[in-house]
Amino acid sequence: MSTEKQHVILVTGANKGIGFEVVKKLLKSFSKENKDLILLGSRDLKRGEDAFHSLSSPSNVHVLQLDTSSSESIDRATQEIKDKYNGQIDIIINNAGFLFLEQKMEAGRETVATDYGGVKILNEDLVPLLRENGRIINVASRAGTVVLSDCSKDLQEKYSSSTLTIEQLDELVEQFLSAVDSNTLKTIGYTSTIPLMPYSISKAATIALTRIEAKQWSNEKKIFVYSVCPGYCNTDLSAHAADSRSAENGADSILYLVHTPSDQLENGGFYLDGVQFPQINQDQDLIRQAFERISKVNAAK
Ligand SMILES: NC(=O)c1ccc[n+]([C@@H]2O[C@H](COP(=O)([O-])OP(=O)(O)OC[C@H]3O[C@@H](n4cnc5c(N)ncnc54)[C@H](OP(=O)(O)O)[C@@H]3O)[C@@H](O)[C@H]2O)c1
Repeated sequence: MSTEKQHVILVTGANKGIGFEVVKKLLKSFSKENKDLILLGSRDLKRGEDAFHSLSSPSNVHVLQLDTSSSESIDRATQEIKDKYNGQIDIIINNAGFLFLEQKMEAGRETVATDYGGVKILNEDLVPLLRENGRIINVASRAGTVVLSDCSKDLQEKYSSSTLTIEQLDELVEQFLSAVDSNTLKTIGYTSTIPLMPYSISKAATIALTRIEAKQWSNEKKIFVYSVCPGYCNTDLSAHAADSRSAENGADSILYLVHTPSDQLENGGFYLDGVQFPQINQDQDLIRQAFERISKVNAAK
């Protein structure tokens, strides 16, 4: 991106892990003179402030309290951006994410509320504030593409339909959650045996949502929307897998979509390390091994 004007960039869930590394790298990559403003999103103010201090309290980083699973919190944060930052924003990086191990209804709902619902509501609230040529980057996961590959053909077609609407996507997600509760996932076509289904389906829904948003907002306003996987990274979420890459490397995968000119990217596309991937992907082994390991480490805690 050009550094001619001051950009306002929001990174959600930026108090630790990959989001924190994204903020660190943004600080380095944008010109110091222009003092591009980075909003470090954190659901807990104290954790956000601690992260800010650990960066030596740069004047162009502001902490924004934002719990992406709460529509009240999203509304408050939107109002704060309107009041304090001229109501204008250039880039939204929806990084906040959550992984719940139990496959109970409440756990499924909590996961979906952050990993899919939060992204959807935040984007809807903030899109009026996005400047022309603004970008939204939704952090998803390869797990979302792999989980669909062994679900029923009917579900695959629904998630990847070019006419899918947000209302239909919400309905698909709701049906998934009800089936988790009634233990009828297989009956309605969720035949994948990948562990951590609510997380994976949230990410599948986020990838589908990205395509819908890209179509909708590039027509209404010149805005680009992408989804991205940071790769299997050594963070709290992955229970610090020894065989994973650093959170810093994961941040690079996200930042590729910040810095690459839009005419070199597919609006609505899903990327990992600068390579575009399909919405349904059969590359099962890596995800299965990673999730089985995360489940084992967490169960032992
Ligand atoms: N690590 C991987 O291998 C991997 C792979 C693929 C995709 N991802 C995705 O990458 C993103 C970052 O994950 P990570 O590995 O950096 O995990 P992490 O170290 O656990 O960090 C997750 C961040 O999200 C925040 N968060 C969780 N729920 C939130 C909510 N309701 N509202 C606001 N913030 C919330 C956390 O805040 P608290 O500190 O308050 O909990 C934390 O700042 C996630 O979307 C994740 O799904 C990660």
